Amino acid sequence: MSDSRFHMSQYRAETEVNLPKRVWIFDTTLRDGEQMHGVTYTIDEKILIAQQLDELRVPKIEAGFPITSPGETEAVKKIAALGLDAQVVALARPLKDDIDRALDCDVPYIHVFISTSDLHIDTMMKTTREDVLNQAVEGVEYAKDHGVFVEFSPQDATRTDMDYLIEVCNTVEDVGAEMLNIPDTVGVLTPRMTFEFFKEVKAATRVPLSAHAHNDLGQATANTLASIEAGAEQAHVCVNGLGERAGNTSLEEVVISLIAQYGVETGINTRKIAETSALVERLSSVYMSANTPIIGDNAFSHEAGIHVHGVLSNSGNYEILRPEFVGKTSRIHAGKHAGRHGISSMMEDLGLEPTREQLKAIADSVKKLGDTGKIVSDSDLYAIAKNVMDIQEEDRVQLKQLLVVTGNTITPTASATLLVDGEEYKGSGVGNGPIDSAINAIRNVVNGFANITLEKFSMKAITGGTDAVADVTVAVRREEKLVTASSVNGDTVMASVEAILKGMNRLLDKKKT
Ligand code: KIV
Ligand code: ZN
Repeated sequence: MSDSRFHMSQYRAETEVNLPKRVWIFDTTLRDGEQMHGVTYTIDEKILIAQQLDELRVPKIEAGFPITSPGETEAVKKIAALGLDAQVVALARPLKDDIDRALDCDVPYIHVFISTSDLHIDTMMKTTREDVLNQAVEGVEYAKDHGVFVEFSPQDATRTDMDYLIEVCNTVEDVGAEMLNIPDTVGVLTPRMTFEFFKEVKAATRVPLSAHAHNDLGQATANTLASIEAGAEQAHVCVNGLGERAGNTSLEEVVISLIAQYGVETGINTRKIAETSALVERLSSVYMSANTPIIGDNAFSHEAGIHVHGVLSNSGNYEILRPEFVGKTSRIHAGKHAGRHGISSMMEDLGLEPTREQLKAIADSVKKLGDTGKIVSDSDLYAIAKNVMDIQEEDRVQLKQLLVVTGNTITPTASATLLVDGEEYKGSGVGNGPIDSAINAIRNVVNGFANITLEKFSMKAITGGTDAVADVTVAVRREEKLVTASSVNGDTVMASVEAILKGMNRLLDKKKT
């Protein structure tokens, strides 16, 4: 398989595997993903995520576990009524009450589960294998009698005695289960074990198999892919790999790996991946580390001289796929590892034309700053260049006055007066704290003439104690252009506002826009 969109290996593994043409993506961000400690969505947030998943063209969305709470039932019901292209799925134990609650939500698809490992049967459910088998059959039959599609999961399948697992799978198939999902509930298998496990289950069953891997030992993606190599036709995934404990399999990783490494279709609109990940980050408040594959801030960022030179010559040298393919952009950063080519390209982006000597002096200063342990933002680079090149130009947007009022009895409010090209503009904003209200006030003024969005905000205390100095870094965007800016100040509000203003000034053209 060779696809010009990707720069993959020419190496071919000797063992041939029979891959399906298409793998069904079953997204459980709203069910298993929400079971992650600290993650809980309002009904409206769940609807927003479901709509985004539909835009991503996920074919199956597990919207929730309706019996959990009245709010959960309402959320699943509302999502099922949205008229999405995706099939909406509800989770249920094989109990009449659970299944009735799922049916009340008017979903076309019910996912029935029960534990099958002796560990769970003996110590958690305190029952017998026979009882579990009977419950599974009754649950599947009951759901099938109501005309819905039934997927069955033997929970903790990978710690279940294989003969018993096959017996349960065959029995639920006989009574109408149309998909068998095999959960590695606590992530105990290795990729090779997963392959052999799925081969064995596949050989003994008739309906399509689905993979559901957890990431307890960091192998969820590899195990899901191994299941597919062994014949699974569906993968349970969560956006950003959210989920119980160390999470579920990441949607992003599985989808991109299937397309780029295996040449297998998923139907997913990959260009919506970054946007979907960002929405789930914001609503779950679980932020991805910079080095998260595909969606992390650094996934398509380059700083080291050799790499930047390579990427500028041909992106394929260090990017296995174009970032636009997943809705991201490639970024070159200044820092202590930066080389002449990178700094020169960044100067071009800033609209500056340093001489050879000036370029060398700028690169030296960047390295010096990097050596102090500082992350060199675009605004730092501009300040260095301005100094080296003796540029006298003033920032177009300057802060004249900022007033912030906060307290326990009022909504934090800020008013700002900015000088924009020397003219005075005033604006105000409210927020959930003094920083938020100050930034909103600035944004309200600037957005009068340019649409600038704040994409990232991070603050760290440089020193300890209540008088700590705050180091704020932001990423702001105007259309396609994204810049980073930073500021250090003893006042957290001022550090934030200064960083935002620096970023905005880098985004605005010299002439009035
Ligand atoms: O991990 C698991 O076993 C589950 C089941 C409900 C399928 O999430
Ligand atoms: Zn799970």
